Amino acid sequence: MKTMFLGQNLVALGQVDSTNLYLQRMLAAGNVVEGTVVTAREQTQGRGQMGTEWLTSPGENLTFSFVLYPKFIPAREQYQLNLVLALGLYNTFANLVPDIRLLKVKWPNDIYYNGKKIAGILTECGIAGSWIQHAIVGIGINVNAYPTALETASCLKDICGKTIEPDSLLPDILYHIEAQYLLLRGGQFDKIKTNYIRNLYRYQEECLFERMSDESTFTGQILGIGIDGRLAVAIQGKVNYFYIKELKYL
Ligand code: BTN
Repeated sequence: MKTMFLGQNLVALGQVDSTNLYLQRMLAAGNVVEGTVVTAREQTQGRGQMGTEWLTSPGENLTFSFVLYPKFIPAREQYQLNLVLALGLYNTFANLVPDIRLLKVKWPNDIYYNGKKIAGILTECGIAGSWIQHAIVGIGINVNAYPTALETASCLKDICGKTIEPDSLLPDILYHIEAQYLLLRGGQFDKIKTNYIRNLYRYQEECLFERMSDESTFTGQILGIGIDGRLAVAIQGKVNYFYIKELKYL
């Protein structure tokens, strides 16, 4: 590992329900050193964002989780961690894909290539008062396969034209995420945000969205991220802010 702490302690599992759940149990059972990574060849209950499932074929993809103690981040600024994680993945894939212009971060933290999802992140934080105590970060990467039912998904094998050993990606991913995390810890959030926005999917394009509350559709232009992490969208000349559960990209 080329990292200072992320992945220095590594637990490699065969089959598990979910690497996020496994780390939760480790935390409940006692102290876990910061940066501990848990990988699994197969998950039987892989979980995605907003209560969805994360399905992968055993051994074909990369599924792992790690623990951070970002006690310097106020709970209401938790979204800063999303930007760090997404940018870390973006920087890793930037060295792999044939055309970097097609690589994007979809708010808040999916990675897209040519309009298709290749990686997702599920972060679960423990909060005490106004501060984050721990974060369990789970990452799923479509390396050699993706659920074919998902039209909007792809995998690195199809993009790069060759099979990739999933575990071979881990050292670079951890290196790039740690680098962004250390920037955040060093007070350089502005720099992270600028880089994130620069690579944001559909940034400043006129595009179609759905408002989840009433399923109405509208066109708008993504302007950036508000100070609370909401997505800023210009709709008919007025800025509107959306939380993740309020908005769907069409
Ligand atoms: C998403 O885009 O919906 C988030 C997907 C996160 C999947 C990863 S796979 C490793 C970790 N364990 C889980 O159960 N989920 C995350």
